[in-house]
Amino acid sequence: MDRSYRISALLLVLYLGAGSSVLRADEKATPEQVKFFELQVLPILQAHCFTCHGSDKDPRSELRLTSRNSVLKGGKRGPAVSLEKPEESRLLSAIHYQDLKMPPRGKLPTAHIDVLTRWVKMGIPFSDKGSAEVVRTGPPQVDERARSFWAFQPVVRPALPEVKNRDWLANPIDAFVLSKLEQSGFKPAQPADRTTLLRRAYYAVTGLPPSPDEVDAFLADQSSDAYEKVVDRLLASRQYGEHWGRHWLDLVRYAESNSFERDGTKPFVWRYRDYVMRSFNHDKPYDRFIREQLAGDELEDATEDSLIATGYYRLGLWDDEPADPVLAYFDGLDDIGMTTGQTFLGLTVNCARCHDHKIDPFPQKDYYRLQAFFRGIRHFGVRSDESVAEASLRFFGGDAAVSKSRDAQAGFLKRVGELDRDLKAIEDPIHSRLPGGEIDDFKYQQYRVRILQKHVPDLVSQETLDRYIALSDERETLSRNRPMTLLPALCVTEEGPKPKDTFVLRRGNPQNQGDKVEPGIPSVLLPSDARDPSIPSPARDAKTSGRRTVLADWLADPKNPLTCRVMVNRLWQYNLGRGIVRSTNNFGYAGTPPTHPELLDWLASEFAAGGMQMKRMQRLILTSNTFRMSANGAAELVAKDPENDLLGRFDLRRLTAEEMRDSVLAVCGNLNRTKADGPSVYPIIPGDVLAGQSMPGHNWGKSTLQDAASRSVYVHVKRSLAVPVLAVFDAADPDAPCPVRFTTTQPTQALAMLNGEFAQTESKLFAESVRREAGNEPAEQVRVALKRVVQRTPTQAEVDRGVRFMRTLREKDKLSTEEALKRFCLLALNLNEFVYLD
Ligand code: HEC
Ligand code: HEC
Repeated sequence: MDRSYRISALLLVLYLGAGSSVLRADEKATPEQVKFFELQVLPILQAHCFTCHGSDKDPRSELRLTSRNSVLKGGKRGPAVSLEKPEESRLLSAIHYQDLKMPPRGKLPTAHIDVLTRWVKMGIPFSDKGSAEVVRTGPPQVDERARSFWAFQPVVRPALPEVKNRDWLANPIDAFVLSKLEQSGFKPAQPADRTTLLRRAYYAVTGLPPSPDEVDAFLADQSSDAYEKVVDRLLASRQYGEHWGRHWLDLVRYAESNSFERDGTKPFVWRYRDYVMRSFNHDKPYDRFIREQLAGDELEDATEDSLIATGYYRLGLWDDEPADPVLAYFDGLDDIGMTTGQTFLGLTVNCARCHDHKIDPFPQKDYYRLQAFFRGIRHFGVRSDESVAEASLRFFGGDAAVSKSRDAQAGFLKRVGELDRDLKAIEDPIHSRLPGGEIDDFKYQQYRVRILQKHVPDLVSQETLDRYIALSDERETLSRNRPMTLLPALCVTEEGPKPKDTFVLRRGNPQNQGDKVEPGIPSVLLPSDARDPSIPSPARDAKTSGRRTVLADWLADPKNPLTCRVMVNRLWQYNLGRGIVRSTNNFGYAGTPPTHPELLDWLASEFAAGGMQMKRMQRLILTSNTFRMSANGAAELVAKDPENDLLGRFDLRRLTAEEMRDSVLAVCGNLNRTKADGPSVYPIIPGDVLAGQSMPGHNWGKSTLQDAASRSVYVHVKRSLAVPVLAVFDAADPDAPCPVRFTTTQPTQALAMLNGEFAQTESKLFAESVRREAGNEPAEQVRVALKRVVQRTPTQAEVDRGVRFMRTLREKDKLSTEEALKRFCLLALNLNEFVYLD
């Protein structure tokens, strides 16, 4: 028996000894025990044991874990649980990997081991649902057993658990977390120090680091609600929508190109991105957010925003020249069904396209019933982008609007063309006559004026320069103010009020039709005595069938068992690093059961009760003491719970790809904070990377340096061409919903951050900016640079080390003062403290 287990077992005995005793063989479980069993124990057994110890004819080792009697009877080796000496039960030694190793595939997470341990020590209370196991042979059954799975059950608001250390509670969230820790005999970690907390909150809400001034202001604010004020300010900032919008874009596989050979651009799709960011910033209730994306065109109060929202349907892959057009059409529907099922319901119904779902109770028929909601959608054919865009224009303003908008666009393009021509006429003769280093720099628009200024009057007259500045200013202003009114958007359209019939397709093959089906929700989510939501028959002249509204209403209903659970789990995930249910897009049998089921349900019911307002929930999470814990847990706790399933400390995490790039730009003083919406930007991609394309550089536009330094959420997402610094830090693959980012650690990351063009360019700008702020004194330069990077005041030792580093570069390696500072800045960007968030 390993030491940490002994300690916790001892505490458990003490804890259980106080009041509770082991349930006798003939005793009935109390209602609390039944609840504990159904909410916490059963999901673990279902997910990890029943495959082998379920009700099959031959369970492994003759052991069935499906009823109290069968557990007590046990397997080949005798009883699995002893009611006389529960702590010596074989089931416990097996899950602790002491003699047997159960489940064989890998040890359970600590939190699950704790739950099963408590359960055994209570005397294994069961309930009628005890035999609600997963039947894994033959097609999945949709019956009462299947319906009793925790995630398919209605959310019931749990009472707050009792805790010993009530002083620790900042809000109800903490009660659930603390009670679980106390039951395992542990204490939460100490609160994080203030600078750490500030940095953590900034990243959680905005994805950006605080500036040195913001750190100082927070440290100077001694009021008791200093932290809460920061949280409120951040939630109200535009950067909140930029950061949280990006999370949503991951889920809906947002990209701006179609993939396949030509990977053509999706025109105006960035308007959907802006819509998402706006929705977060305006704190749009989640139910409205659902309705707008799924059926924004069918809403009675449709708005420009709700139409743009239906761009949701247009984000996926699209083959402009499919070998099999019928299959391509169904692939399109599959993409929509998959995204909808996983994003809003956390269910992989899409696995039932070709066969009954092998794990969850979704017969193939359910897949096609869900698909029928989308059957009316017009598959975007090979029509010109303009005509697609015009459909939405007519919707708002009729033909007049179309021609007005066209005129504005044409006028804009004409003037831009003229300006570019005039600018070039001035640039070209001078460019070739510039000295070596400047020729290179001249390719960046942002440097051009500065370079020309140096060459008055030898290469350019003051008069020409003035004209040049005026022209580039106008160009800049124009590109920031593209004609936006009645700008087209990619929207959904349907064939008309009456969609084609939907059939089950055997093996997913469109040539092999089975039974006809009507639109319907997954049957396991429909109580056995209830009917599918009915679809009102649309008016004869309706543009659409109205089916998507019915689906959206069902999803947006606070009584839907999954909608709120899935969304609060995401809010938790993006604030604390991972979900209460870790498999955030899979709440089915093969997903991971929640580590804190009652907390999840409490959050879900609180979310529903509060009108599905996301900022409110965010605030609750951010101001809990759970969020404020240090990342350093007690050694004993870390040893016993390496995965932090008990939430005894904050999970250290690496910054995401966007956070990395944006933070580099921010600390280098180069982040474009004015870009707030509009067409995407194109950072420079090195020629070597472009060379890998079939048509190098095709459809990769040019942005001014200033635009290219916008936040990553504005960077053009091209399926076949990822921006290197984002790709290398595991940006989302936009081909399918991305619920959880990978966090890889690879040599290419270090190479990108040391040698990559982005890191090189930025560290140069960083050095210039540090010199402007700190002057020429090396110690001050180091102090300023480090404070920006790690968002705290560096120690004297750190400053000394930086100064020594630069001196060595100058004296030994004969680098110039500028180059030495640049190298130091580059080094600072590679500090773990910068790249990791604790
Ligand atoms: C992949 C299949 C598989 C899974 C999943 C699995 N077991 Fe087992 N289990 C076995 C096999 C095989 C044996 C027999 C091992 C042996 O005899 O060496 C066994 C034996 C046992 C025994 C001893 C039974 C006896 O009397 O011989 C217990 C207790 C047990 N498992 C508990 C569990 C629990 C609890 C879980 C879930 C946390 C679980 N197992 C998950 C395959 C599995
Ligand atoms: C495009 C069609 C298609 C889709 C979509 C599909 N499968 Fe399959 N799957 C098959 C075929 C074909 C087989 C082999 C024949 C069979 O078992 O039906 C198979 C077999 C399986 C098997 C092994 C069957 C067994 O009994 O051992 C599993 C498990 C499985 N699929 C799981 C999944 C999961 C999970 C998903 C969703 C991520 C999925 N499938 C999506 C076509 C598909």
